Amino acid sequence: MSKVTDAKVLAVYMVAPNTYYMEFEAPDIARLAMPGQFVHVRCNDSLDPLLRRPISIHMVSRPKGVLALLFRVVGKGTEMLSQYKPGDRVNMMGPLGRGFTLPLPGSKVAVAAGGIGAAPLVFLVQELANMKCQVTVYLGARDKKSVLCDGQFVQMEAEVVIATDDGSMGFKGTVPQLMQRHMDWRKTAMTYVCGPKVMMQEIAPMLQEADVPGEVSLEERMGCGVGACLSCAVKISHHGQISTKRACADGPVFPSWQVVWD
Ligand SMILES: Cc1cc2nc3c(=O)[nH]c(=O)nc-3n(C[C@H](O)[C@H](O)[C@H](O)COP(=O)(O)OP(=O)(O)OC[C@H]3O[C@@H](n4cnc5c(N)ncnc54)[C@H](O)[C@@H]3O)c2cc1C
Ligand code: FES
Repeated sequence: MSKVTDAKVLAVYMVAPNTYYMEFEAPDIARLAMPGQFVHVRCNDSLDPLLRRPISIHMVSRPKGVLALLFRVVGKGTEMLSQYKPGDRVNMMGPLGRGFTLPLPGSKVAVAAGGIGAAPLVFLVQELANMKCQVTVYLGARDKKSVLCDGQFVQMEAEVVIATDDGSMGFKGTVPQLMQRHMDWRKTAMTYVCGPKVMMQEIAPMLQEADVPGEVSLEERMGCGVGACLSCAVKISHHGQISTKRACADGPVFPSWQVVWD
């Protein structure tokens, strides 16, 4: 069950170029949220932009009733959102969507994050740490100053392996290349992926070949966010049958081997 609330802004920080961390008092949403779910945010009080914007839940503190978002400014909506100050109220609906499937406690899992795709994976790793899972995070970014959330992952006792496109930090190359070199596929019970489409599209067949189950979080453009308008349609293949699913309500998380990438 999702809630609509006027969440009070508690903090806003710029954490990397064009990238903001924002904390809200939103106890009803924080209490229900699961990793991989998102909130649909009204970015200002006027009718422009008319539509809400979907942003993943980055972290929650259920006892404090606090939730955090981590987002990149790419257009009008996210620009307006970044301008809010502590004490302001932001209308949001959530938690929405189907999140990640959690593994058995104590499992060894891999998490692959590219760019702002790290945002929902912090909440996931928070839950995995509570379940005493052994987590390796493959974290990719354009360059050293764009690497996100590495400190948070380390604090949660995950092993963090970094790749940057220009080699200014960690391995020089992409996250799929890093995983090919570093990952011990035989011992991995589950892999979770969020990042640019091209990255997820490369990792999905690698998982299938290694027979490791995986889930990807898709970032389709959304309208209503609650399954009514079909603007977020994605193609899913199941036992050879192709069907259309709604990323907002049936996802945004889907089994990696079911997604038809085109
Ligand atoms: C389930 C879900 C979770 C998301 N979580 C996060 C998050 O945690 N942090 C974050 O920074 N962003 C996240 N996004 C993407 C975010 O919703 C968009 O960046 C935002 O809606 C852009 O709004 P805007 O008004 O600023 O830009 P617009 O003016 O609407 O668009 C600016 C540019 O961004 C592109 N764009 C807009 N929406 C998307 C999208 N959904 N996917 C890819 N490109 C898009 C447009 O094509 C355009 O080029 C998520 C998207 C989805 C569907
Ligand atoms: S955004 Fe309307 S159905 Fe998904």
